Amino acid sequence: MSDIYQAFERELAGWQTRYAGRPDREMLRLCLLSLEREQNVAVAYDEGVLGPRLAAMCLPDDVRELIRCALLWVWKDEEMHAVYIRGALLKLGRPGVSVRTLAQQVAGAVGGWTVSVRQHVRWSEAPFTRAAATLLLWAGGLTGRVPQEVRRHIDYCSFRSFCRYNVDTEGTAWLCWRRLTELAPHVPALSGGRVADFRRVAEDEDRHRQVFRILADALTDDDRLREGVTAEGLAARIGAVGEFFLPRHNRHGPSFHNSLGSGATSGWRPRSCAPRLTDSASPTDRSRQFRLQFSLRGD
Ligand SMILES: [Fe+2]
Ligand SMILES: [Fe+2]
Repeated sequence: MSDIYQAFERELAGWQTRYAGRPDREMLRLCLLSLEREQNVAVAYDEGVLGPRLAAMCLPDDVRELIRCALLWVWKDEEMHAVYIRGALLKLGRPGVSVRTLAQQVAGAVGGWTVSVRQHVRWSEAPFTRAAATLLLWAGGLTGRVPQEVRRHIDYCSFRSFCRYNVDTEGTAWLCWRRLTELAPHVPALSGGRVADFRRVAEDEDRHRQVFRILADALTDDDRLREGVTAEGLAARIGAVGEFFLPRHNRHGPSFHNSLGSGATSGWRPRSCAPRLTDSASPTDRSRQFRLQFSLRGD
């Protein structure tokens, strides 16, 4: 396990001890932390940030498209997670929590911008932007918002290193949502009784971790395709994690027929028509149902 993962495990264990017998306090704090982290990656994984980086890499076009599509879905998942947890916090209707929610989301967006500039922009390309991001990173370090284990990875690096870093951060996101899933039944005010949704977000985070690991495995340290890796092999590995991560023409399962993202005309359906999440469905189907239901829920 990486130092980032282990440090976060210790932090969660500390909170568990500190808030023993007060699951509502622990869950509120975890939800606020989750919001900041989800907003952070919703900015850091933006296609506007990763697209140009990917375009500059020396890769076959079909491989580049596979990577671009996988990251696009990860990004969209993160945006969805941020909206979801922000909604759960704002629904509490407590003014103090609402203010902290908005502050946490702003902090996440600023953090995401800082990470994306530091990891993907060289000093020679944008010295003033990079200087601003560096100042913010220092401020984050001084105030304790950015742990030492994380700070040392937030610098210009190969795309492969970026993927490896995110294997670790996605692992910590999974830890966070797994703990929220444990707490959710005890704090219905925050979970709204939708414990299964929390579990599915944790499953999303695990899938993201797998996708980043596959991408890191496929690349060399100078961001070329590793010898023996083919577009077909890469598509098979990514598809085994979830077909949603593949370009439409690479899909064969139910997501191939999903009109979302196809460019086809789609219509609104009332909430009562949304598919029900069923625990008996396969992980891919549950993920598809979650995305569809979320997009139709409107809350
Ligand atoms: Fe997430
Ligand atoms: Fe994630």
